[in-house]
Order: sequence, then C-alpha cells, then structure tokens
Amino acid sequence: MTVSVDEFKKSLQLWASGITVVTTSSDKYGIQGMTVTAFSSVSVNPPQILVCINNSADTGEGIQESHSFAVNILSSNQEKTSNNFAGGSSQKERFEKTDWTLGSTGAPILNDSLMSLDCIVVDKFLAGTHWIIIGEVQQCICRTGEPLVYYRGGYRQLANN
Ligand SMILES: Cc1cc2nc3c(=O)[nH]c(=O)nc-3n(C[C@H](O)[C@H](O)[C@H](O)COP(=O)(O)O)c2cc1C
Repeated sequence: MTVSVDEFKKSLQLWASGITVVTTSSDKYGIQGMTVTAFSSVSVNPPQILVCINNSADTGEGIQESHSFAVNILSSNQEKTSNNFAGGSSQKERFEKTDWTLGSTGAPILNDSLMSLDCIVVDKFLAGTHWIIIGEVQQCICRTGEPLVYYRGGYRQLANN
C-alpha cells in the first residue's frame, strides 16, 4: 500500500509539538539557525536528544562542520522568532532580530527561549530526505514561561487549565 506525500503530511499535522530553533557555529559558515519541530529526547544516561534536519538545509551543513549544536525550545511569545528562522532571510538577519549569546559548545543560545540544550554531535544517520542527528547534552538552561505549540500547521498556546 502506498501513502501519498499529501496524505502523509496531513496525518502528521495531527501531531502537536513544541517548536525549536536549532543553532550552530562553525569557522566555515559562521552562526546559523533554523526552525525545527522534529526534536525528541533519546536517552537519559548519557543525556541524548535528536533532531531531524533536511539534507538541503544550510544549518545542517554547519552542524556537520562544527560537530555541535544547540536546541532552543521556543516560548509562547516567540512566533516571530519561529517564522524568522524558517527561511526567507539571511542568517545575519535572523540573528539580528534575536537576543543571543554563545553557549559552551560555541552554538548560539537564544536568550528569550523557554529552554536551551547545548550539545555535541555523537551520531548521525541519513534517513530519506533528512539527517537524524544525535546530540549529547553538555548544558541545560531552563527559564520561566510557557511553550509555543505547533498543531495542524498553526501556532497554538496552552489552555490555562
Ligand atoms: C514550524 C516549522 C517547523 C519546521 N521543522 C523542520 C524540521 O523539523 N526539520 C527541517 O529540516 N526543517 C524544518 N522546517 C523548515 C526549516 O526551518 C527551513 O527550511 C529553514 O529555512 C532551513 O534552514 P536553512 O535556512 O539553514 O537552510 C520547519 C519550518 C517551520 C515553519
């Protein structure tokens, strides 16, 4: 049985997730970042997470170069940041509109995000169109606030109950 791309995409829209901006910094490409919903925890000890990055994404190239990245989980008031890092502007413009500092691995940490995980790459696999990149967490930075939620192709807020 074959599943069409449309059917597959429509089905996955029923999966509610948070939104992240994955960042990296390398000598070759400088600082880079992109919006990513394909994020998951993998292992507790050692602390590992994964992100899935399209093999055509510039930021993915940078991660392969630097062997490190940060995952910044967006707060409820960061819709603009999500759109900003989803393409249509240069990396320079993306970071000009955001308050950031360098984390312990050298990857940019977005200061207004809800939580940031600074990671080194420990494994990667190419699966279809995407790289599955596994990172071992070197530093966790938690802040206060509510998460930005993505569901059925749109931004959502958690209900207050
Ligand atoms: C809500 C949202 C979620 C996204 N999730 C992913 C994702 O999980 N993986 C991915 O490769 N691209 C994802 N994208 C697309 C990238 O953010 C976009 O293609 C980005 O510009 C690629 O980065 P680059 O400019 O470094 O090439 C998402 C875009 C949006 C708006």
